[in-house]
Amino acid sequence: MAATDSSVMFEPIAHVERYLDAFFDARPLPRNLRAAVKYAVFGPGKRLRPLLVVRACEAVGGKIVQALPPAAAIEMIHCFSLVHDDLPAMDDDDLRRGRPTLHKHTNEAMAILAGDALMGLAFEIVATQIADPAVSRQVLHELAIGTNDMINGQVYDTLPDFDASVTPIERLRTIHRNKTGALIRCSCRMGAIVGGAASGAALEAVSDYADAIGLMFQVVDDLLDVTQTTEHLGKAANKDADKGKLTYPGLIGIDASRAEVARLQKAAHAALDRLAAPRDGTRHLRELCDMMAVRTK
Ligand code: IPE
Ligand code: IPE
Ligand code: MG
Ligand code: MG
Ligand code: MG
Repeated sequence: MAATDSSVMFEPIAHVERYLDAFFDARPLPRNLRAAVKYAVFGPGKRLRPLLVVRACEAVGGKIVQALPPAAAIEMIHCFSLVHDDLPAMDDDDLRRGRPTLHKHTNEAMAILAGDALMGLAFEIVATQIADPAVSRQVLHELAIGTNDMINGQVYDTLPDFDASVTPIERLRTIHRNKTGALIRCSCRMGAIVGGAASGAALEAVSDYADAIGLMFQVVDDLLDVTQTTEHLGKAANKDADKGKLTYPGLIGIDASRAEVARLQKAAHAALDRLAAPRDGTRHLRELCDMMAVRTK
C-alpha cells in the first residue's frame, strides 16, 4: 500500500512506532524476549490498524495523542496474531513482511512466548496509558472482544467445526469476519471511543464502516494469495489452496471476489455518509478504504 504523494495519511505511523519502541524499552523484559517482540512488531508492516484507530478518532473530532495507546495496542495484537498464524502448527510459513518469520529467526518456543507477551503488553498499555478510567475500561472491553473474536476466527479457519447446515459462503463469512474483521472493527471502534464517541449514531456508523472494510480486507488478501508473487507480497503466495483454506476466489472465483470488494467499498463509504461530522473529517477513512480495495500487497 504505497503512500499517495500529497497525502499526510501515513504521518501517524512514525508516532505510533516511536510510542511502541519507548513502551518496550520501559518494560522489564528478558533481553531475548524484548528482541523477539521488537522483531515481530518492527518489520515493514503496513500499520493499517493503528492508522484506522487514529483516523477514526479524528473522524469523530479527537486528536492523535488520544489514539496512541489503542493504536499501539492493536498493532501488538495484530503482530501476535501474525507470529502465531505463521507457526508450523498453524499456516507453517517461513516468510513474513519480507523476512524470516519469528520462529525461523529465533525458534518456536520464543515465537509462542513473544506472541503471548504481545497480547499481555497490549492490554497493559491500554490499562495504564489512558487517563480517563471510564474510557480505559471501555477500550479494554473492545480490545478483549476483538482479540477473542480474532482467535475464534483462527479456530474456524484452522480447525473448522461447523454444523452441517451452515453453507460454505456462511462459513467463509464467519471465518473472515472473525479472523480479520474483528481487529479492524476493534481498531475503528477504539479510535471513535477515545475520540469522544463512546456510544450512539457516530459509533454505529464507524462500526458499520469497519465491518465493510474488515471483510473487504480479507477478500483482497485471498485475491492477492492467488494473483501476486511471494517476492512482491513478502509472504508466501499460493498458500491457501495448498493448505486447503476456504477463500473467496476458491469459492466464488476471482471476478465475483473482485465484485464483492467493490460492493463492500461502496458500503463502507455509505456508512461514513451517516456520520454527522464535517465531511472533511472522514477524508482519511475514505482514502484508507479506497487504498485497501486496490492494494497489491
Ligand atoms: C495480514 O495483515 C494478515 C491478515 C489479516 C490478512 P496485513 O496485510 O495488514 O499485514 P501487515 O501488518 O501489513 O504485515
Ligand atoms: C491471517 O489470515 C489472519 C490472522 C493472522 C489473524 P491469513 O493466514 O490469510 O494471513 P496471511 O495471508 O498469512 O497474512
Ligand atoms: Mg492463517
Ligand atoms: Mg497465514
Ligand atoms: Mg492470507
